[in-house]
Amino acid sequence: MIESFHASSASQYFINLEDKYGAHNYHPLPVVLKKGNGVFVWDVDDKKYFDFLSGYSAVNQGHCHPKIIDALVTQAQNLTLTSRAFYNDQLGEYEKYITSYFGYDKVLPMNTGVEAVETAMKLSRKWGYEVKGVEKNCAKIVVCNENFHGRTLGVISYSTDVSATNNFGPFLQGFCNIPFNDISALEKALEDKNVVAFIFEPIQGEAGVVVPTEGYYKSVRELCTKYNVLMVADEIQTGLGRTGNLLAVDVENVKPDIVILGKALSGGTLPISAVLCNNQIMMTIKPGQHGSTYGGNPLACKVAITSLQVLKEENMAANALSMGEIFRTELQKIQSPFIKNIRGMGLLNAIIINHSNKDAAWNLCIEMMQNGLLAKPTHGDKIRFAPPLTINKEQIENAISIIKKSLGIFE
Ligand SMILES: Cc1ncc(COP(=O)(O)O)c(C=O)c1O
Repeated sequence: MIESFHASSASQYFINLEDKYGAHNYHPLPVVLKKGNGVFVWDVDDKKYFDFLSGYSAVNQGHCHPKIIDALVTQAQNLTLTSRAFYNDQLGEYEKYITSYFGYDKVLPMNTGVEAVETAMKLSRKWGYEVKGVEKNCAKIVVCNENFHGRTLGVISYSTDVSATNNFGPFLQGFCNIPFNDISALEKALEDKNVVAFIFEPIQGEAGVVVPTEGYYKSVRELCTKYNVLMVADEIQTGLGRTGNLLAVDVENVKPDIVILGKALSGGTLPISAVLCNNQIMMTIKPGQHGSTYGGNPLACKVAITSLQVLKEENMAANALSMGEIFRTELQKIQSPFIKNIRGMGLLNAIIINHSNKDAAWNLCIEMMQNGLLAKPTHGDKIRFAPPLTINKEQIENAISIIKKSLGIFE
């Protein structure tokens, strides 16, 4: 952290509380937020900031979108949870809505993103044994190096990030790691008849917004079809308009066998995730074999329908596409020697910092914070820029001015 930065006494009070009573499993920027509206958030001293993280892309629709909040409040006053021991009057409507929205037979509702990834892993194995005919307990799932699919033991079992795995073993078996964006490595891995699925992020977000070469999704689709392996797209961060299309894989008109969604499915209001696939896969799971008390709760269902409606009604994917173009073009124009690389798609972007100080990205984030823009480094030298998809051109230009001015700390 920059030595000279001191949080205000109001902020410090809340920081101290978290520090004393909360687990230290995160390392937040020293800013304490109390309010959000659209692309802006306010801290406890009423200072206003651009939110260029959007809750790691959970707030695509903008903070406190009035329609989503209205759905949340109205449904909360009627019925919030039934568990799946009973039917409720929202779940079926939601299932019909989301399956026709994305063109799949069925959905399995969960809460957090990682639960949906676990669901997709279980579905893939079930399908492998019961449809593909893989020998009992031999199923393998192919995954990518530098992946990020969440934090459960199952999911970190195939993480290549030492900080995610150190001293958490022993791990789940049955995974095969290959490099991201490497089609020949994928083909080689899929030749193994025990492989049931390839689970991947269309763009590796946590790894620093790593965008694969054009044609990657198409090739993945072709190979998965050729080897009778499920193509499983983790669109938790890339989906729901973020990259300029409803799903990131839409850019190549590709349809995965399983799509995993989370984050912006609730517009940032509560944890809602979903796994979408067709009957042949989904119907391998029978009553009692998988679920969650809160999965498919009526409050989540109502909120998810509204969050999806708002995305379409307000053309947020198209806006992400055009604003993303402007953002990257304007970043290029800064011509800073301290930016090694600019990459991204739609409004999921990152810069790679070129500086000998290993804290340079963190220091830049502190400076941007002081200048009114919030973003967070990932993996040391990368800073992700992912504002709500409602951002307009003038706001992009203002944000660029803040980034440009903040780069001045390196001069
Ligand atoms: C691609 C991807 N998958 C899974 C997850 C995990 O989601 P959650 O934190 O809701 O469990 C994330 C979270 O950042 C993610 O980006």
